[in-house]
Amino acid sequence: MSDFDANEVRKDFPILSKTIEGNPLIYLDNAATSQKPSTVIDGIKYFYENINANPLRSLHKLAEESTKAYETAREKVARFINASPEEIIFVRNTTEAINLVSFSLKMDRGSRILTTYLEHHSNLLPWLRLRDKGMFVDIVGVDDNLELDMGRFENIRQDTKLVAVTHGSNVTGTITDVEKISRLAHASGALVLVDAAQTAPHIKLDVKKIDADFLAFSGHKMLGPMGVGVLYINKRVIPKLGTFLTGGEMISSVKMNDIKYADVPAYFEAGTPNVADAYGLGLAIDYLDKVGMDRIYAYEKKLMDYLYSSAASIDCLDIYSGKSRERGSIFSFSVKNAHPHDVAYLLNKKGIAIRSGFQCAQPLIEDKLHVKGGVARASPYFYNTYDEIDTFLAEIKKIGNMYG
Ligand SMILES: Cc1ncc(COP(=O)(O)O)c(C=O)c1O
Repeated sequence: MSDFDANEVRKDFPILSKTIEGNPLIYLDNAATSQKPSTVIDGIKYFYENINANPLRSLHKLAEESTKAYETAREKVARFINASPEEIIFVRNTTEAINLVSFSLKMDRGSRILTTYLEHHSNLLPWLRLRDKGMFVDIVGVDDNLELDMGRFENIRQDTKLVAVTHGSNVTGTITDVEKISRLAHASGALVLVDAAQTAPHIKLDVKKIDADFLAFSGHKMLGPMGVGVLYINKRVIPKLGTFLTGGEMISSVKMNDIKYADVPAYFEAGTPNVADAYGLGLAIDYLDKVGMDRIYAYEKKLMDYLYSSAASIDCLDIYSGKSRERGSIFSFSVKNAHPHDVAYLLNKKGIAIRSGFQCAQPLIEDKLHVKGGVARASPYFYNTYDEIDTFLAEIKKIGNMYG
């Protein structure tokens, strides 16, 4: 398929033919979670009907198949981001992935972590928490274009142990230059963690090119089920990490006074893993591969350009988006005089699903966008159509007239 047709792919997503409040659903809340194709939904049912067993522990046939399903999913994830399977840790979501690093990275008191104003709370609170343990947290600001102040990465203090940065803002859509940030951080001896929750679904990622030490994303934002996420850990940093959760499956031998741990990834996957959802994520990756990440990216880019250029002439809108660099599939806005929750409520009456509020990025919204009460956010994906964007903007205009 060279010509991408959103109307064709929509047929693979049962929920997209639903009606809400008597209107066809227009689902524009993909940054919160994406919808799932039938292959993923049916695949999870198939897993429980045909494969289900506790993997790794038992020697019977089903346990063997469950183990195979789990490890095949790990291989698919690894291929998807150009990593090795041993570098892929299955977790619940991006939040857990980042917490895993914040709890297990060995750091002396007085160490510094450098993070940024563009972060989701999930890549902020795990670091701010460490202030109670005697660490310092420095925050990189944003300029008027809502881009990171890159100068801060040119002069990273020597006591900085980790740079934790988002690849894509869930509010402004800003895509950061993580390759450059990695290079600069490594040059000052710091490790790099990349939050790819908002880019893994939309952009082909290559961990070798980015050269991050850690990279985190959530399965549910990229067609996979809720409950499974990924932490990539570059092999070279494993000696710098201690335990996170402890218990079954993460050991090779236990004596009361002598514990020998298993190697990574088992080391970070204590307890019974979420095999069904990992299997579902593998199927989501199959689907993304079939459509093609390059085509997804190209289609969304045009769709977003259309959305932004059409919105530019709507007077009642304030738009909050990264301007100079590339931006993701995010459109954050306010309708003048209207609370974002009211905008979301009125759009829902027309079947349009968006998100409103602080978007889990309260410091960015309050301190940098200077907006009280949050913003409204529409976040398309490759199954959204130009017609849906037109309907969304037409409804926004009507809301603008109501409040104008
Ligand atoms: C940039 C970013 N990071 C982290 C997260 C947290 O993802 P999860 O809730 O799946 O852990 C999100 C969720 O919206 C996000 O947008």
